[in-house]
Amino acid sequence: MTVFRLAVVCRSLAPERFGGTATAWFARQVDSRDDFKPDVIDLSATPLAELPGRIDQADAIVIVAPEYNHAYPGDLKTAIDAVREPWAAKPVAFLTYGGRSRGLRAAEQLRLVFAELHAVAIREGLSFHDVPGSFVNGDPTEPGTTEAATLLLNRLAWWSHTLREARTQTPYVL
Ligand SMILES: Cc1cc2nc3c(=O)[nH]c(=O)nc-3n(C[C@H](O)[C@H](O)[C@H](O)COP(=O)(O)O)c2cc1C
Repeated sequence: MTVFRLAVVCRSLAPERFGGTATAWFARQVDSRDDFKPDVIDLSATPLAELPGRIDQADAIVIVAPEYNHAYPGDLKTAIDAVREPWAAKPVAFLTYGGRSRGLRAAEQLRLVFAELHAVAIREGLSFHDVPGSFVNGDPTEPGTTEAATLLLNRLAWWSHTLREARTQTPYVL
């Protein structure tokens, strides 16, 4: 069975940031499967020059992002802009969080950015509201969340397979 490399990109794993909690939970969902191997990229601990190589190695990407003032944070944009070609023809999904909004405005803005980068932003996403209160002991309390993660990963697996084959047969030229 092919094992796809899944880059899980988060801003920080620091305990005072919710992103670390969300990333740890999502990485456990990935670890419970045998079709993906996660590569957690902590942007706060990864030199920007290292980022293109890590994304180049990935078959798929999940971006973990909070909503700040109806957008995703500016430091995440700096990291996205530092990569360029390795995003192309790769599937991308978003795990977002925030207050009432669940980070959905951040996710919609990320879709626009990744379209420009020739990535394929998939329909399925994960979103959490009123964090950190909607997590207890590192797990989300909202019913259906594990199933939503499974569906997202199933879709990412389909796109990972399809786009890896397509890139192999016909190099994607920018
Ligand atoms: C400067 C700032 C702006 C925020 N703006 C929003 C917002 O527009 N919508 C929302 O739902 N939550 C908003 N929040 C709440 C954050 O999404 C929430 O606190 C989240 O846990 C922050 O993620 P982090 O701990 O990983 O940094 C904001 C928080 C901060 C600090």
